Amino acid sequence: MLVEANISRTLTDLHGRSISYLRLSVTDRCNLRCLYCRSAAGWQMLPHEHILTYEECLELIAVATELGMSKVRLTGGEPFIRKNFIQFLEQVLFRHPHLNLRLTTNGTLLNGKIPALKSIGVQALNISLDTLKREKFQRITGRDFYAQVRRAIDQCLENDLRVKINVVALKGINDDELEDFLRLAIQLPVDLRFIEFMPVGEKTIWRPDQVWTAKDILDQAREFVELRPSNDQDKQHGPARMFHISGGQGRLGIISPMSSHFCNQCNRLRITPDGRLRTCLFSDHEYRLRPVLRSTKLGRSQLRRIIVLASRIKPIGHDLLSGMRQEPAVCRKVMSAIGG
Ligand code: 5AD
Repeated sequence: MLVEANISRTLTDLHGRSISYLRLSVTDRCNLRCLYCRSAAGWQMLPHEHILTYEECLELIAVATELGMSKVRLTGGEPFIRKNFIQFLEQVLFRHPHLNLRLTTNGTLLNGKIPALKSIGVQALNISLDTLKREKFQRITGRDFYAQVRRAIDQCLENDLRVKINVVALKGINDDELEDFLRLAIQLPVDLRFIEFMPVGEKTIWRPDQVWTAKDILDQAREFVELRPSNDQDKQHGPARMFHISGGQGRLGIISPMSSHFCNQCNRLRITPDGRLRTCLFSDHEYRLRPVLRSTKLGRSQLRRIIVLASRIKPIGHDLLSGMRQEPAVCRKVMSAIGG
């Protein structure tokens, strides 16, 4: 009871950050094999019975909202690879009609699904797309699905669903395509967000010279277009710095975990598909929620207690990043097993 009494409806940590955003990964499975995320070789998938059921995911979302979290992003792996994912979304929105619900997807499995997403109340999608060239797409992702992703983006726009395109900025791989990406954001009302390549996962191919830095991206972009900072960036875009492109419908955004850290504003918790709470992308310290969810004795109050106590000691990830310089990766788990 004492602990219950201490639980407020706002989660805060010892650095004064308020934690309002949950990223919940519903599967570690993905139909792509992106070279920066995980390679096809030697990949071990979680056993099915370790993956949280939709009921368990709903329970976690209920606890998160009870704790005052207002934004939930569902990720994977690739979330649309999981059976009945749209029915699950419908349940989430039925139980939490005011939730700010977001999705991150690779966009390859969306064909024909956009009207259903729209009608259940999904407002926006983040779609990952690292190149505008079909052959390069195949080289990066291991699969020939470029056309499907482009079609998905068009279908979102036709159905009035907002689109953010996430581009992992990879020096030597897609740094020759900035002009084409800018042209896309001029022609279409999409927000492009370039994400600096991060050293995530034990076998990552990350090397310092593969980071196409935020500064370089912005300097290069200014050679082609005029950029004007977009001032709603803090509330709307989390870590992304957004810019209007003069004469364009869409915007350019930069997410720079490597060159300018935003840990002091971090408001996130992550839950892996097997129900482990991670309070920082760069820390392998995890809190196992699945046994609590599956226990017949422990209930929601215990889940709340773990989330509150873990959130309090959420680390400053940049300290971990700067400490790792000699290591190949800052954390062992690959992105698809964390949820991005
Ligand atoms: N560095 C930067 N971004 C990454 N993503 C996946 N792995 C990495 C990495 N190592 C991106 C995905 C997705 C987003 C959630 O994170 O492409 O768009």
